[in-house]
Amino acid sequence: SLQQSFTSIETEVGDDGVAVLTIDRPQALNALNSKVMQEVVSACLFLDRNHPAARVIIITGAGDKAFAAGADIKEMAAVSYAEAYNTSLLNGWETLRSVRKPLIAAVNGYALGGGCELAMMCDILLASDKAQFGQPEISLGVIPGMGGTQRLTRAVGKSRAMEMILTGARISAQEAVKIGLASRAVPAAELMDEARKVAKRIAEHSTPVVAKAKECVLVAQEQGLNEGLRFEKREFWSCFALDDQKEGMAAFVQKRKPDFKNK
Ligand code: CAA
Repeated sequence: SLQQSFTSIETEVGDDGVAVLTIDRPQALNALNSKVMQEVVSACLFLDRNHPAARVIIITGAGDKAFAAGADIKEMAAVSYAEAYNTSLLNGWETLRSVRKPLIAAVNGYALGGGCELAMMCDILLASDKAQFGQPEISLGVIPGMGGTQRLTRAVGKSRAMEMILTGARISAQEAVKIGLASRAVPAAELMDEARKVAKRIAEHSTPVVAKAKECVLVAQEQGLNEGLRFEKREFWSCFALDDQKEGMAAFVQKRKPDFKNK
């Protein structure tokens, strides 16, 4: 089952297809220790592969201060190079890349270091107007290690990414929207309603078609234009093998709502 014996996250799946995963260490500003990493990754994989009722996954943080204030500094402080290397420190997060269902980050407060990087691993980033983003690793004598140098650069361009990563300075939610890091900022009290609204809207569509669309957008971030266009065309053509394409287009022609069967 889903909730298993999680102690650092809360999970809930609604009958509207929306799963909410809450990182639950508010006393440490939801810092991402190895327990949180294992639980978030295993919950997401379970929701993705074994839980057809969950169609979209929202990730958020408990409390009103933080989404996540980064990887757990207390846990990392004494780690040696050999340990970091031999245990592939923080590499487990990369497993989230294999999740096919859309991930929405509902950033309710500080998204710093690994917290900002986790938010950027998600497919859509919605921010509370009280959220703050930053990559402060440089002030701890390290560099971002959960994809920040790559995903932030792709999201906001070289100059802004350099400024954030080299100074460690934080930016506001409004600034994050302006530079394209977050898709929208909404009043803090409305963040979860808004995230659910977006998730529900996505969940109404055909699951395999949503997964194809997500995969194609990610290819745009990962490959060149020629490869991406080829990939998109093949995925587009493959939609015509699905009953849901027939249903979606028939429903349009007959002026009714489509009834997707996810096949
Ligand atoms: N790791 C471990 N504990 C953390 C933490 C973190 N990243 N961030 C906050 N905490 C803990 C604090 O140590 C404190 O615990 P105690 O009560 O036991 O002292 C508690 O959470 C509350 O934090 P503060 O008292 O510091 O709260 P504040 O409101 O004064 O400040 C803050 C908030 C500015 C976010 C500050 O907590 C802060 O700067 N946190 C660290 C941010 C950071 O540097 N993140 C990057 C981590 S490295 C990383 O993520 C590497 C990577 O690329 C993956």
